[in-house]
Amino acid sequence: MQKRFYVTTPIYYVNAEPHIGHAYTTIVADVLNRFHRLMGYETYFLTGTDEHGDKIVQAAEAAGTDPKSYADRISALFRDTWPKLNISHDDFIRTTEPRHIRVVQDILQKVYAKGDIYFDTYRGRYCVGCERFITDRELVDGKCPDHDTPPVEREEANYFFRMSAYQPWLIDHIERNPDFIRPERYKNEVLAFLREPLEDLCISRPRERLDWGIPLPFDERFVTYVWFDALINYVSALGYPDGELFEKFWPVAQHLIAKDILKPHGIYWPTMLKAAGIEPYRHLNVHGYWKINEGKMSKSRGTVVRPLDLAPQYGLDAFRYFLLREMVFGLDANFSEDALVQRLNADLANDLGNLFSRTLAMTGRYFGGTVPPFGDPEEVEDAALRSDLERAVGIYREEIPQLAFHKALMAVWDVVNAANRYIDHTAPWDLAKDTARRGRLQRVIRTLLELNKTVAVLIAPFMPQTAEKMLARLGIERKALDVRLDRDAVWGSLTEGTAVEKGDALFPRVGTKKETPSAPMPVEVASEAQKPAGVREPSETAAAPSQGELIGIDVFQRLDLRVAVIQAAERVPKSKKLVKLLVDMGETRQVVAGIGEHYAPEDLVGKTVVLVANLKPARLMGVASHGMILAAHDAEGLRLITTDAPAAPGSKVS
Ligand code: ME8
Ligand code: MG
Repeated sequence: MQKRFYVTTPIYYVNAEPHIGHAYTTIVADVLNRFHRLMGYETYFLTGTDEHGDKIVQAAEAAGTDPKSYADRISALFRDTWPKLNISHDDFIRTTEPRHIRVVQDILQKVYAKGDIYFDTYRGRYCVGCERFITDRELVDGKCPDHDTPPVEREEANYFFRMSAYQPWLIDHIERNPDFIRPERYKNEVLAFLREPLEDLCISRPRERLDWGIPLPFDERFVTYVWFDALINYVSALGYPDGELFEKFWPVAQHLIAKDILKPHGIYWPTMLKAAGIEPYRHLNVHGYWKINEGKMSKSRGTVVRPLDLAPQYGLDAFRYFLLREMVFGLDANFSEDALVQRLNADLANDLGNLFSRTLAMTGRYFGGTVPPFGDPEEVEDAALRSDLERAVGIYREEIPQLAFHKALMAVWDVVNAANRYIDHTAPWDLAKDTARRGRLQRVIRTLLELNKTVAVLIAPFMPQTAEKMLARLGIERKALDVRLDRDAVWGSLTEGTAVEKGDALFPRVGTKKETPSAPMPVEVASEAQKPAGVREPSETAAAPSQGELIGIDVFQRLDLRVAVIQAAERVPKSKKLVKLLVDMGETRQVVAGIGEHYAPEDLVGKTVVLVANLKPARLMGVASHGMILAAHDAEGLRLITTDAPAAPGSKVS
């Protein structure tokens, strides 16, 4: 049976130009699409633009034009951006297209005929600024939080979708399908919302108030509410109800969104589908928000990051790699150009770039630039490297369908680093001095070439251009979208005698604003540097040496210090000082740290810290802590110890 995969992005509003948030979701969808192709799936990838409703009318007015011309212009901006980011979508849908309008009206008619759409007069609080009714729960001090004005009482006749009737079904469906909405925190958010009675959804707008929308098929005096219209794109683009694409791909549909539009996708959409007699989608995958230099992206503060400014500057693949490596899917992440440059220099130029260029340079030097035979039998270190690679492939295949892109990439980089160490250790330059060791030299270089080939295949979904370039230099001419894991990553598939080409650096290094010294320097920290930021269990008697006493290296070596990245942080209830952290140190650990007076929890997420990993577990105000993080203290306060460039979580600190 042919395995299939269907992925969608939100259809973006045409009231803003493409920015890094849109780029991220679309690149994630692209990585998933390419990954499934790599695994031999038949895939379909949909994106597009959302063009009806108040917001668009207002934006068009502000731009001094009519909604249609405005939508045409901004939609084209999105459509033209995606090829520049190497997005491999199959279709781009606009909600103003007849093929979409037809399906929206068809579904409305079906749900109406079934009795799940009714006409009613609604009296409620209306915010003139928002041009919509707002619920009591949304009000802050009796005012609309967005406009800081009190709502007015208003009465309006409209059509309503009987969403409440599907509440029990939806709760049951979510509970029976634990990965329907993922990661789990968003499933829980939806379930928490469903603990309150669900209200019916107002799905029309009178035309005298809003004309820019799809007319209701059963009452021309009204247009369709923009969400009831927009969500349907996911099936209209497949040619619902009887299109071949619909039949093939709808059963495996996966949506990708950020947390901002969880409610329409987690509640409106499945109940709409159920009412229309359509199977629900398979997965709703929800990611967090990109913040810019620790703040919200904002036009007024000039912190909107535009992908088309960055990608050409640093290289498209470096940009794509950074986005996927930096964000833990589901959590917020911080974007800064410095962090991008650090990853580019460390992971790409240093680790991967060096491995590839060293391998090909040595192939040139010792074998005239052609793939050598395997030579001598495999030795322990060769087999170890090969099994490292197999393990990485296993993790990669496991983690990407779970959206843990950072883990997949970390696994690949672990083996890249292992291969760099293998070169240092096997020292091919020494083997080359001794003709009796020619067979051993062949084995080492061939092992490295095969490994580089598999790495190229594995990075193809993330960095398609780089993968193509690496494969081409290894003598394999293959478009990134045509690369297949089971054909192209087979050990030994390179052909002896094939010419390989070193070429120029895959990733040129980029200068940083603050150049860091190249040699490690002893770092002086404030006088109390040894005092940990974590809080020790009070009962534990510290066997620490007294001030001034000298310790042997053996005492120091008993500490298991590790690099860890903070994934989540929240205050321990009723404590000023304590913050509960989830850190990634290769595995996830919970740690309680006494840093609450110095750091806001939301500022901690994404930071790299140093963890004492072998501290006895303790409970602090009832919360378990498995380790301690290090900080420097001085009169000014406390600062966490971090690494000067990104280091893989779990790396040993010594
Ligand atoms: O909501 N970080 O469109 P929209 C990460 N038209 N992702 C971000 C982001 C950020 N800071 N900002 C935006 C709409 N996004 C509706 C959708 S779907 C049937 C209709 C991304 O233009 C993210 O994918 O406001 C988010 O869900 C989406 O843009 C919202 O896009
Ligand atoms: Mg939005």
